[in-house]
Amino acid sequence: MQNVILVGFMGCGKSTLGKKLAKKLNIHFIDSDSEIERLEGIPVSEIFAKKGEEYFRQLEHDFLLQLKASQVHSNSSFVLSCGGGMPCFHDNMNLLQEIGTIFYIKLNAIELTKRLTLAKTIRPLVKGKSEDELLHFIQNKLAERSTFYEKANVVLSGKEQNPTSILQKLA
Ligand code: S3P
Repeated sequence: MQNVILVGFMGCGKSTLGKKLAKKLNIHFIDSDSEIERLEGIPVSEIFAKKGEEYFRQLEHDFLLQLKASQVHSNSSFVLSCGGGMPCFHDNMNLLQEIGTIFYIKLNAIELTKRLTLAKTIRPLVKGKSEDELLHFIQNKLAERSTFYEKANVVLSGKEQNPTSILQKLA
């Protein structure tokens, strides 16, 4: 079966949805941030702090190139959850198109602010922001990033953000 790729802004629920979907399909779940953390041996927040964002973006790109290369000799499918910024750098959206079917989990800035305010994961780009600052930051970043996200094969609205809807759209 085809690989499923989930993209969207930080906090939109890619990992949670991706894990459920992979379980339902009985295929592997891959989280790009976790893979990069495993390869580097430190959390994403430390990679940003010690080596900077540009270095992290290169790691994301290298990870995708590796993943694509590994597909040549493999029949096993996976669900990939991409870090929120990944589609917006190094022409990664085109690379992702070659790897699988891309679903954009679309939420608006207000919904994302609510979710990120409650989130426990340390995210270097939003760390330490008040709720107002966060909303402002998300509105700006989302405006920049939407053009990339919207290139997905399927854009999932709120009520479609569940494994069953994704399965229907894959069929
Ligand atoms: C980022 C999103 C994060 C992680 C890093 C940068 C971004 O992933 O890759 O903190 O630029 O939006 P999640 O979308 O899984 O939080």
